[in-house]
Amino acid sequence: MTDLRDSTRLHDVARRAALEVRDPLLAAFRTTIAVDYKVDLHDVVTEHDKRSEETITKFIMREVPDSMLLGEEGGSVGSGAVQWYVDPIDGTSNFARGLSFWCVSIAAVIEGEIVAGVVYDPVADNLFSADLNGAYLNGRSIRSNAVPDERRATLITGYPVARDFRLDGKQRALEDIGVLIETFSTVRRPGSAALSISHVAAGWVDAAVGFGVNPWDVTAAILILKQARGSYTPLTLGKVASSSKDYLCPGYVALGEGANYPTLNRIAENISQRRQETSASSSLSVARA
Ligand code: IPD
Ligand code: CA
Ligand code: CA
Repeated sequence: MTDLRDSTRLHDVARRAALEVRDPLLAAFRTTIAVDYKVDLHDVVTEHDKRSEETITKFIMREVPDSMLLGEEGGSVGSGAVQWYVDPIDGTSNFARGLSFWCVSIAAVIEGEIVAGVVYDPVADNLFSADLNGAYLNGRSIRSNAVPDERRATLITGYPVARDFRLDGKQRALEDIGVLIETFSTVRRPGSAALSISHVAAGWVDAAVGFGVNPWDVTAAILILKQARGSYTPLTLGKVASSSKDYLCPGYVALGEGANYPTLNRIAENISQRRQETSASSSLSVARA
């Protein structure tokens, strides 16, 4: 069990680390930014992602030397009792093009428990955060708040992207998103998992769902949402064991307090189930080969 003072201190370190990269990122935003591609043309990175991660890493390792840090760009650094997850820019495609929906995401975990999280949107100057005492927006307490009926609710998701077409089949994926579009009052694709979940936490949107996230995308936002009395249901999608920590799972359904969305739950569960079956049958054919 983490001491509350540790949680408060790590929350403060995460907040200051995020603010360290505020000015350079704002200075670069909406200038001409060179883009590199990682896995494919849908997976972009810029020099600013790398530079920001270096700044954040140096800051955190100096403040809390007893740390192991996993960043999206630089991989794993250090060893120690505090595990950090850092996404220097979540929503890089938006950042690189000039759309103002991106953020810095930093989380601290001790013995498998998320104890501090910061999601910072420099353009709006919104700092969502949480420690073991509560969830905050710019230092003031927040509480999620969702409309009870999905037919009147707003859902945000990145689903489906090209990778989901490959995993789920294009027809199937388009049918599933079609059902969500018909069911919900509004469906939007803003493009940053961390900021999307933080919007649910702040009560600015009712629900978010994702099917291809990493720990650096969601760990900070999970604590923010839970401390704002929202719910976070992880989806294993056949990629991790069912006993895995929620922040290590590649999928999620994030709901504001008061939401009861059977269609969303059913579609998310179906996608997860199908991917589990696909992954089980492909491991079987590997074993047979
Ligand atoms: C991506 C964004 C996107 C989510 C992807 C992430 P990046 O992160 O959060 O919304 O759907 O799963 O990889 O590449 O912009 O840091
Ligand atoms: Ca990300
Ligand atoms: Ca990123």
